[in-house]
Amino acid sequence: MARKLTQLELLMELEPIAEQNVDRHLSMAKPWHPHDYVPWDSGRNFAAMGGTDWDPEQSTLSEVAKAAMITNLLTEDNLPSYHREIAENFSQDGAWGTWVGRWTAEENRHGIVIRDYLVVTRAVDPVALERARMVHMTQGYNPIKMLRDAGAELEHVTDRGFLHSVAYVTFQELATRVSHRNTGKVCDDPIADRMLQRIAADENLHMIFYRNVCGAALDLSPDQALAAIAEIVCHFQMPGYGMPDWRRNGVLMAKHGVYDLRQHLEEVVMPVLRKWNVFERNDFGAEGDRIRNQLGEYLEKLQGDCVRFEEQRDRALAREARKRDLAPAKA
Ligand SMILES: [Fe+2]
Ligand SMILES: [Fe+2]
Repeated sequence: MARKLTQLELLMELEPIAEQNVDRHLSMAKPWHPHDYVPWDSGRNFAAMGGTDWDPEQSTLSEVAKAAMITNLLTEDNLPSYHREIAENFSQDGAWGTWVGRWTAEENRHGIVIRDYLVVTRAVDPVALERARMVHMTQGYNPIKMLRDAGAELEHVTDRGFLHSVAYVTFQELATRVSHRNTGKVCDDPIADRMLQRIAADENLHMIFYRNVCGAALDLSPDQALAAIAEIVCHFQMPGYGMPDWRRNGVLMAKHGVYDLRQHLEEVVMPVLRKWNVFERNDFGAEGDRIRNQLGEYLEKLQGDCVRFEEQRDRALAREARKRDLAPAKA
């Protein structure tokens, strides 16, 4: 197997790619303003300012839409943790530094606009939302814990750093794009849908930056990059992992097509692996070939898991529909 490159060597070799992709990003990104996406007319004071406090009756969002909005917002709120991961693993200089600053500023908009929307429209309980934000941000994002909880053998996570970060964010940006986009659809409110489409467009551009950088890393040091990519794919957890009500909200979102296993496999993992030609390349050494085979087996298993999940989901939804049909009609 070829020598593994150090973190510094990777950053230096890939700097021209980062620069090209920062330029590409800046030429593609359209400026937008969070205040243009919030229906301020719907707002009114809460009790502390002489108005009325939140009441569940005021929300027009379904339980699924609420769960998805809260999950997406708390994920965006955790930006300081993600910024730390990216800033620690990328350089602060040159194109890397420019990207870290720009990406962080763009991400911050997402949390701003979603919170403004939810509070102004009284779509969710603002007190519960604030408590959950405090818990989630205090806990932060811990990639080692996330990998360990997902069953990764930590002795294999020895050279975590740039490659793991860039592989993770490639999938994570695309996952958040899918999640925001589908949350917009279940909100049944054109204003929310427009806002979430706007955010999803940002996430797509972010994904392209990371995907191009990670793809270039794969060309530069194929076995080393594939090892990081496979580790991330096989132990992937959504970025909001561990937040309050994570399981409950995740199940609701999966059950109602906001983000489920098949979407994860077919709309997030496979398009990126195809773009990198992972299964067609002939530049892997023996180690890369071995990892690729393992990755292939994992993806096959995931395909089977999708079918099982969908069967369970169909049964659960049918049970719920029967229950609804049998329930006495409300006067
Ligand atoms: Fe975001
Ligand atoms: Fe993003």
